[in-house]
Amino acid sequence: MPKTRNISFSYTEYTSADEMAPSDRELVVSSREIAMNAYAPYSNFKVGSAVRLQSGRVVTGTNVENAAFPSGICAERTALSNAISNFPGDRPVAIAVSAVTPSGPTGDQVSPCGLCRQFIAEEELRNGKKIRIILSGKDKILVIDSISDLLPLQFNKDDLRTVLP
Ligand code: THU
Repeated sequence: MPKTRNISFSYTEYTSADEMAPSDRELVVSSREIAMNAYAPYSNFKVGSAVRLQSGRVVTGTNVENAAFPSGICAERTALSNAISNFPGDRPVAIAVSAVTPSGPTGDQVSPCGLCRQFIAEEELRNGKKIRIILSGKDKILVIDSISDLLPLQFNKDDLRTVLP
């Protein structure tokens, strides 16, 4: 008999960064500040991301677009790549993302694209520790415990176990 199963998750919603714990608030502020540096002439959607490492260090990144559109990269992958490349032993514990449009910061939260979710999932699995995801907007900030919540039934290295040495 087929079974219907359910996947659900809980998250915390804030209406202002002022309500957050200081270290998460700082991450939101860093992602908002770095968004101004984005190179986004094609979408005008400037995104900033800030990664908190286990040591407490914060590493940031922005989206970087390209005339050959698919060559562009999102802020989350820039920030995480920056962290992984420069501080290899220092594991990410949280990542914040914010966006600014020509009319100002977005009111609603920004959600990571599928590629970024997959990228964060690889890092979370590698660390064996959850990475807190902070999706920030001017009027709404969502805090999610783990990328598994945003990418259920994910494909990862466990799926490759039969073919890997
Ligand atoms: N973008 C990000 O950098 N992060 C997201 O979470 C959503 C989308 C970028 C990609 C592209 O440069 C622009 O925003 C519009 O899609």
